[in-house]
Amino acid sequence: MATAALLAVHGPTLTLRLPVLEDAPALLDLAGDPEVTRWFSWGPYTDLAQPRGYIERQAQRREDGVQLDLVVEHREAGPVGVIGLSELSARDRRAMVGTWFGRDWWGTGVNTEAKALVFHLGFGACGLVRIGAYSDVANARSRTALSKVGLVHEGILRGWHRHGEQQKDVNVHGLLRADWMASRLFTVPARVEGAVPAAFVVG
Ligand SMILES: CC(C)(COP(=O)(O)OP(=O)(O)OC[C@H]1O[C@@H](n2cnc3c(N)ncnc32)[C@H](O)[C@@H]1OP(=O)(O)O)[C@@H](O)C(=O)NCCC(=O)NCCS
Repeated sequence: MATAALLAVHGPTLTLRLPVLEDAPALLDLAGDPEVTRWFSWGPYTDLAQPRGYIERQAQRREDGVQLDLVVEHREAGPVGVIGLSELSARDRRAMVGTWFGRDWWGTGVNTEAKALVFHLGFGACGLVRIGAYSDVANARSRTALSKVGLVHEGILRGWHRHGEQQKDVNVHGLLRADWMASRLFTVPARVEGAVPAAFVVG
């Protein structure tokens, strides 16, 4: 019996694909760096059980329409980070994108290509009309990186994100499908393979 291809989005140098348990050692290595997870409510990873647990939770989270996370795999180097869609509103056809890469990959161009691929998935295959993102107000690198890929800074959400014992302010950024279609990221070649989880197909 033929097996349906797993979801993947192929670009010039990167593929976004569903995480599998075999990715756990690479994720431990990449997100074992406190600089990488500095702005997140999780991490840094210190034990293989942590990325394994994260990967094991993903199938249910995809099915429930809660989170569609994809490993960013570089054609030569293997996994370099994770990108995903969450906070899906099927009714409003919108979701938020989140991204992290191992420190060695910052500033290499992977963010632009990975965002181009996730936009093809979100706006193209899923039918979203808006993709947003948050950045901590102190995470200037992330804010600049989001602006470079076309997300407009729309304002500050006060006391939005719980991080340890702190309730932090975050920037909210957004990109509309029409603006993506007019942007240079739209021209990055992308091929979606396999089935998009049903909960994430909204249009
Ligand atoms: C955020 C992240 C995905 C961006 O990817 P990246 O490859 O680093 O992004 P880029 O290099 O394309 O863009 C970053 C830009 O910010 C600039 N920058 C760096 N530090 C900066 C600072 N303190 N203030 C302003 N801009 C800064 C860089 O110079 C670069 O701009 P340039 O290309 O014009 O030189 C990556 O840094 C990462 O994984 N960080 C850790 C996890 C994280 O913070 N995720 C985002 C959560 S909201």
